[in-house]
Amino acid sequence: MKLSQTAQDLLARIPPGVATRLEGVLEKVPGVGQKVRAEKKKIALELKHGVEKQRPKELTMSALPQKPVDGATVLSTLKALTERESPKWREGKVSGGVYHGDPAHLRLLDEVYALFSQTNPLHADVWPSVARFESEIVAMTAQLLGGDPRSTDDANVVCGTLSSGGTESIMLAVKSYREHARSRGRRGRLSLVVPASAHPAFDKAGHTLEVDVIRVPVGSDGRANVKAMKAALRRSTIAMVGSAPSFPHGVIDPIEELSELARARRIGFHTDACLGGFVLPFARELGYPVPRFDFSLPGVTSMSADTHKFGYAAKGSSVVLYRGRALRRSQYFITPDWSGGLYATPGFAGSRPGALVASAWAALVTTGKKGYLDATRAVLETAAKVRDAIRAIPELEVVGDPLWVIAFRSRKVDVYRVLDEMTARGWSLNGLQKPAAVHLCVTLRHTQPGVAERFAEDLRASVEAAKGAPVEGGMAPVYGLASSLPFKGLVGDLLAAYLDALHDP
Ligand SMILES: Cc1ncc(COP(=O)(O)O)c(C=O)c1O
Repeated sequence: MKLSQTAQDLLARIPPGVATRLEGVLEKVPGVGQKVRAEKKKIALELKHGVEKQRPKELTMSALPQKPVDGATVLSTLKALTERESPKWREGKVSGGVYHGDPAHLRLLDEVYALFSQTNPLHADVWPSVARFESEIVAMTAQLLGGDPRSTDDANVVCGTLSSGGTESIMLAVKSYREHARSRGRRGRLSLVVPASAHPAFDKAGHTLEVDVIRVPVGSDGRANVKAMKAALRRSTIAMVGSAPSFPHGVIDPIEELSELARARRIGFHTDACLGGFVLPFARELGYPVPRFDFSLPGVTSMSADTHKFGYAAKGSSVVLYRGRALRRSQYFITPDWSGGLYATPGFAGSRPGALVASAWAALVTTGKKGYLDATRAVLETAAKVRDAIRAIPELEVVGDPLWVIAFRSRKVDVYRVLDEMTARGWSLNGLQKPAAVHLCVTLRHTQPGVAERFAEDLRASVEAAKGAPVEGGMAPVYGLASSLPFKGLVGDLLAAYLDALHDP
């Protein structure tokens, strides 16, 4: 995303403390408002051009073709597109994104997808196999995360459903807490208390479900601050949240203390293990120091764990788990009186892709415990090399004490300029804020020979280059704007313009 110099100059002239209050007023000031609007328009156009420049030109259409395109042409074009787009992730230059990516594994998932492409869990009578796969994925994950999926104790059995991804699992959990509270007579606004590092999916859930989300600053190591979380609890609070680990800094929140706090208050506790659910249990078994974070803690009442990340399934699947049947029941949506018949769905979706259920099941059973242990060992050993390489660069420091999502910051160079330099060298890393930092989420792609070494080499060169002239059209000015000025509305407008550019033909 590129931001014009005029826009930066314009914003830089406004004192930060004043900017927040000024933002709404600015638009109305003759001259200034006009200038801001003109700048926004200019930036939106620049964004659109940037997106258009990146867009592949083959088989472009904005209306249904009169004459059908033959399948062979579609296939050869799509093959060419994937060949062009895959080297970056295949060669291990992307943070997260593709977690496995080994050709034999992908072939198997694709074959399973093809076999089940027409299936839909909504019609469990037609495809009972898919319903069985879903229940088994949930049971395998529950068992892995310290729960007993076969318990006859309705209050303690760990049960759940599949969803389309981490965000949906989190939204479902929030919905379940809300409905559960309401079914017990709670009225008025309800709230969640979450660490500042928790994924925006909690904000999306709060926004959509009208539950207030109270974000609490984390400590300098990136972990949730227990005292501050306790102080943030209100009478309206229905649940607390912790991450294992968090997306920004890859550190595990003090789940044991937080979940005990929740238990003492008789509220729910959600461990977001979207990233760690299929890594941490194996890391512990390999001897890494992994604090307790799962259903082995009595205060943990729900969890999310993404099969489509380190579960090595295809994109579009995640598991949401609950302690007790009552919470899972709160997730269901049931309509017994619709003219279209008796209707019952476990989550937000109606029809769902059974093929993704079957391929997630195939990913779990073909990887097996041995496969996950081997994969975890490889990821953690590579991550240790990455961490050491970062620590060896005097200008950089690693944030907290992460296992495989390694964030670094700098007090000596602009870390966003380092990010831009890495981008110029073909890497796709994640920029972070508060504090300004960058991270690499290590996956199996990075465990290929030479990748960690190339990362170290490119990072060293990028730090040196970041001391010189900035990369033209890089992200550094945008992050600079977002962090140095409380001008969130403008940055939000730019992000919306970017989404417009992506979604317009
Ligand atoms: C800790 C954590 N929670 C939730 C999510 C959201 O997952 P998704 O992108 O699958 O919706 C992510 C994604 O990276 C994550 O790292």
